[in-house]
Amino acid sequence: MKESLLKEKRRAFLKGGFALGGLALLSPEKALSSSLKIQDKEFRIITGPYLQTNFGNSMSVLWITSKNSSSWVEYGISPDKLDQKAFGKSSLGFKPADRLNCIKLENLKPGTTYYYKIVSKEIKDFQPYKLTYGETVSGSTESFLNPDAAKKEVSFVMLNDLHDRPKSIPHLLNLDKDNKHDFVFFNGDIFDYQADEQQIIDHMLQPCVDNFAKNTPFVYVRGNHETRGQFAREFPAYFDHVGYTAFSLGPVRFVILDSGEDKVDAHPVYAGIVDFDKYREEQAKWLEDEIKRKEFKNAAFRIVMMHIPPRYSGDWHGPTHCTSLFEPIMNRGKVDLVLSGHTHQYKIHEPAKDLNNYAIVIGGGPQEGTRTLTKIKANHKQILLSMLDDSGKEVGAYSISKK
Ligand SMILES: [Fe+2]
Repeated sequence: MKESLLKEKRRAFLKGGFALGGLALLSPEKALSSSLKIQDKEFRIITGPYLQTNFGNSMSVLWITSKNSSSWVEYGISPDKLDQKAFGKSSLGFKPADRLNCIKLENLKPGTTYYYKIVSKEIKDFQPYKLTYGETVSGSTESFLNPDAAKKEVSFVMLNDLHDRPKSIPHLLNLDKDNKHDFVFFNGDIFDYQADEQQIIDHMLQPCVDNFAKNTPFVYVRGNHETRGQFAREFPAYFDHVGYTAFSLGPVRFVILDSGEDKVDAHPVYAGIVDFDKYREEQAKWLEDEIKRKEFKNAAFRIVMMHIPPRYSGDWHGPTHCTSLFEPIMNRGKVDLVLSGHTHQYKIHEPAKDLNNYAIVIGGGPQEGTRTLTKIKANHKQILLSMLDDSGKEVGAYSISKK
């Protein structure tokens, strides 16, 4: 990132905003009025369904209702016969009875198309010995392909650093609309900061539902901006998963790291209530174990995805902590490729001797002309990466062959 931009960013931040200078911000007044829209009297599905998965023959189906409900998914392998039913995970003997629904369909058959429908029954009145249900609402029948974990090729696209620009989601995805993807990956800073539920719906969930997420899952990891604002602690409840994880699909072992904040935990803007050093150290310990796992070692390729790149994003504490903690482990683990964002300047960094032994590909954004869609395909022989700018022009290409 250019020094002038960094200074501008720092000025905007210290003025009390948690966002980049020049970006559209949600004022507290706007945040309040939009959150009130949620509390409508009608019982309805506010948004969804949207799919998320860690693969492994499971698929999480999520949606939001306007009031608390008893909810389930009806599903099957024929659109005319949704003969299976799944509820959300019980806890302490309770089935969920909430507005935020996340139901994981498990033990799915590999390489099989499933059809499903979401159903919610309104909890109208909740007395100690009498619960009264209201209306039942359901979605239309949708479908998704549960991929075979042993598939020969994996294909996905990465979006990053949208910063509260919901129109960027369809715009960028349309650049590659003719290709089928196993998943869409959001690599952080999809928002400037977390204000309320309506922002999550309007700026991410609804555009995802409208464009792909009923049928294709997304994988999401937080950037530093998703950790900010008064709603940041409620934010994870709207997703199946937004932290660090790992999964295998086809020839690739994917490792996702949550790179946390960019400044020191003691910085005044965090007011003493963040603990990202410890969180990154916890992930480094986990990564040490991950690189010893057979799924990691035996994969044809190993791709790490993290918002703040583990090098080449300045000398603030977050980036340099990521370098010192993760780079030695990723070098020892023979990582092939790291996909990142954060700098707002797209760039492909080749492997560098005695530093990062792997390529680091950084997507751009968020303004028009700087946004990118990063397309990745991998089979057992090679990874092919193509980065498009928002006019559809290829601005970067990289390939890695199996050694
Ligand atoms: Fe960032």
